[in-house]
Amino acid sequence: MQLNDLVSTDSVEKEAWAAIENSILYYRGRPVGTVAAYDVTIEALNYDQCFVRDFVSSALIFLIKGRTDIVRNFLEETLRLQPKERQLNAYMPGRGLMPASFKVVCEGEEEYLEPDFGEHAIARVTPVDSCLWWVILLRAYVVATRDFSLAYQPDFQHGLRLIMELCLATRFDMYPTLLVPDGACMIDRRMGIFGHPLEIQALFFAALRAARELLVCQGNEDIVTAIDNRLPLLQAHIRQHYWMDLHRLNKIYRFKSEEYGKAAANPFNVYADSLPYYELDKWLPKKGGYLVGNVGPSQLDTRFFCLANMISIVSDLASEEQSQAIMNLIEERWEDLVGDMPMKICFPALEHEEYKIVTGCDPKNIPWSYHNGGSWPVLLWLLSAAAVKTNRMDLAHKAIEIAEARLHLDEWPEYYDGKKGRLTGKQARKYQTWTIAGFLLAKELLRNPRFLPLVSFGSFSVEPASRACEFEMVEANTLYFG
Ligand code: GLC
Repeated sequence: MQLNDLVSTDSVEKEAWAAIENSILYYRGRPVGTVAAYDVTIEALNYDQCFVRDFVSSALIFLIKGRTDIVRNFLEETLRLQPKERQLNAYMPGRGLMPASFKVVCEGEEEYLEPDFGEHAIARVTPVDSCLWWVILLRAYVVATRDFSLAYQPDFQHGLRLIMELCLATRFDMYPTLLVPDGACMIDRRMGIFGHPLEIQALFFAALRAARELLVCQGNEDIVTAIDNRLPLLQAHIRQHYWMDLHRLNKIYRFKSEEYGKAAANPFNVYADSLPYYELDKWLPKKGGYLVGNVGPSQLDTRFFCLANMISIVSDLASEEQSQAIMNLIEERWEDLVGDMPMKICFPALEHEEYKIVTGCDPKNIPWSYHNGGSWPVLLWLLSAAAVKTNRMDLAHKAIEIAEARLHLDEWPEYYDGKKGRLTGKQARKYQTWTIAGFLLAKELLRNPRFLPLVSFGSFSVEPASRACEFEMVEANTLYFG
């Protein structure tokens, strides 16, 4: 690397940090989060709010840089916004839910926080991912600061318990996965991801692991037992039923249907004709594979979703072998998944009739735009985290180099359009905070892989609940920042 490169890398990072400072949201004089985008050239809509999922990227980089107060304030304030009472009013958010976003409202001298649980959002989508991200972030805070006392406070224990109850207690179906409506995560518009989308399952798995470390067993024995029961079932279910590679494609190709009973080889009754074999057969490399987007009754959505696959690697939801295969796929299909801007939110885009039927003709989600095959720079940090986890850092270095050459010149857009991500997203905000934070975080994770345990876990083994309750916290997770 030349001296000039170093200087320019440095100045891009300085610019990024200045933009992050601008995005900090203050409430009663304390920093409590970051706004989604600080773009003064365009009407803010709800981008002047702090989104829980968006803040995670900022929070992790704040934790790495020792700015832990913002993260703590965020965790405390959002916890206050969580509904604690059981509601019988259909228009009220359920007990335990976390908002998609919140804003600071000023009335005269008074300031208060107003949450949005989806009741103001376009299409009234439910932010299922928020409470899962919240648990993951609380655990990252504890890993970074060793401040166990925060998680052990009764209000935090109660909040965690409510989230776990919401996810584990009453439900309709009998899968280990979580059943959710469409648009319940980062893709918060209709995109055919209702049912059991992988993104929610991967976040659920990581949140269960995080909660397992944070919950004090005494008084929570029932929840701890439920977590210990669920984790291995969820992991096995995803590894088996969501996996796609050439071997599996061959099996599905010859699936029989209409099988009854427990011995069915095709338990979800996926009709072999519903899969795009000839595209997949061309696209799947010999040594690569990935976890598919969704599995349900007669449904197997073969789209590749980036965030979901990366979180699956980082959290150990995917096996070691599967994780390596996912990274191989990214390497082999680089032009499709990374192209000129890392990285595709999902691949391929829905086109033609399928686009019309599945998105409801959404003009923002036309093929190869926004959520429908657009490229989102925030995903760079997830790629880096997965690359560190699998020891494939060369891939992340290559992706960062591509992003670094453009992002600041394009003023840090929210997303890019086009098959290769060459066009700045048609309606993309500039100075999108998670684009900026994601870039900084991606670089930091590669520079210092010891930060990975903020979002990753030790090897997964479930202790019998009764024995495990003798321990309060898995101490190993506190050692990394020593
Ligand atoms: C868009 C994204 C969503 C994000 C929000 C704020 O709605 O789809 O994931 O949280 O913008 O940036």
